[in-house]
Amino acid sequence: MKALILVGGFGTRLRPLTLSVPKPLVDFANKPMILHQLFNFFLSLPGNLCYRFASGLTIEALKAVGVTEVVLAINYQPEVMLNFLKEFEKKLEIKITCSQETEPLGTAGPLALARDKLIDDSGEPFFVLNSDVISEYPLKEMIEFHRGHGGEASIMVTKVDEPSKYGVVVMEETTGRVEKFVEKPKIFVGNKINAGIYLLNPSVLDRIELKPTSIEKEVFPNIAAENKLYAMVLPGFWMDIGQPKDYITGLRLYLDFLRKQSSPDLASGSHIIGNVLVHESAEIGDGCLIGPDVAIGPGCVIESGVRLSCCTIMRGVRIKKHACISGSIIGWHSTVGRWARVENMTILGEDVHIGDEVYSNGGVVLPHKEIKSSILKPEIVM
Ligand code: GDD
Ligand code: MG
Repeated sequence: MKALILVGGFGTRLRPLTLSVPKPLVDFANKPMILHQLFNFFLSLPGNLCYRFASGLTIEALKAVGVTEVVLAINYQPEVMLNFLKEFEKKLEIKITCSQETEPLGTAGPLALARDKLIDDSGEPFFVLNSDVISEYPLKEMIEFHRGHGGEASIMVTKVDEPSKYGVVVMEETTGRVEKFVEKPKIFVGNKINAGIYLLNPSVLDRIELKPTSIEKEVFPNIAAENKLYAMVLPGFWMDIGQPKDYITGLRLYLDFLRKQSSPDLASGSHIIGNVLVHESAEIGDGCLIGPDVAIGPGCVIESGVRLSCCTIMRGVRIKKHACISGSIIGWHSTVGRWARVENMTILGEDVHIGDEVYSNGGVVLPHKEIKSSILKPEIVM
C-alpha cells in the first residue's frame, strides 16, 4: 500500500513562520508538522506498529501491512524539504520519495504527476493526506470501511463549528454515501467537513489531468455525483493547524490527546499547570508558572519568574525574567525581554527580539526584527 502526502502550498496563512521554512516544517508540539503526519500515519496502520516502531522493527512491520512507499508531493522550497527528509528517511527506515512539481498543481494535479509511483500491479487503493492536519488516524478502520462500501473513494469527515473554511460534505448517515461535496461554501450546507484524509482507488487517477487541479472542486463533486464517494466520520480530535488561531487550538487538542494516552512526554511539577511539553534540553528558571497548553522547544531558556499559557515557544528561544506570554507563538531563536507581556495571538517570526517591558497585543512580527515599543493593537510589523 502506498500513501501520498500533499506538502505543497505556500502556507501564507501561517506567515511569518512560513517565511523561514515551508509549512510542513513549521514545528508543532516540538516537531515539524510533517513528522506528526508520518509518525501518526505509520503508527495507526494495522499490525500494532506502535510497539514495533518503538522496538525498531519498522521495516518488518510496514512490510507486514504492505506499506512500501510514501510519496511527498512537493512544490515549494523542495530543496529544504529534501534535505530534511533525507536524514529522516534513514531514521524511519522506509522508502520516502518525492514527487516534485515545477508549478503548483493544487490538491489533485500532484496525484496525476505521481501516478506511476502510486499505481502498482496490486491494484490496491492508496492514501492521500493533507499535511497541515493534526488528528488521530484510524486508517485500519478506513481500509475496512473502503472495502465494505465498494465505491471509488473514501474520505474522512469531522464536525466543526465554522464549516465555511473547509470542504463541506453532505452524506447519507447510514451508508456514508456522499450526496454533495462543496468546497468553502458561501451559504450553510452542513457542518461535516472534509478532514483531508483519503483512501482512493487507482481509477480516481483516470479522472485527473496533469495540470493545476483541485481535488475538492473538480474531482470529489464528480465522484459524488456518480454515487461513488463515501465518507466516514473521524472519531477523536481533528484540527487544520494551517493558521495561527487554529494552530493554538490544535495544540490544546493534541496535548489533551497526549494526556488521555497517559503520555510520558507531558511535564509535571509544582510549576506546571495542565498539559505542557518541555523539551529535555530546555532550561526552566525558578518561580516560573507554565501551562496550560504550552510547548517549549529544544534549547529554549525560560528565565525565572516567567508566566506562560496557551503558547508555543520554538527551538532556541530565550524568555527573560518575569515576562508573561499567552495565546501566542514565539518563532525560532527569538527573545522576549524582561517584564514583557505578549498576548492575543501575537506571532513572532524567526529571530525576533522583543525589548524589556514591551507589550504586544496581537502583533504579527516578521523575521529578524527588533521591537522596542509596544504593539497596542493587532497589526503586522514588517
Ligand atoms: N503538492 C502540492 N501542490 N500540495 C498542495 C498544493 C500544491 O499546489 N496546494 C496545496 N497543497 C497542500 C497543502 O500543503 C495542504 O497539505 C493541502 O494541500 C490542502 O491545502 P490547504 O491550502 O491547506 O487547503 P485548505 O486548508 O484551505 O482546505 C483543504 O483542507 C481542509 C481540511 O483542513 C481542503 O481539502 C478542504 O476541503 C478541507 O476541509
Ligand atoms: Mg489547510
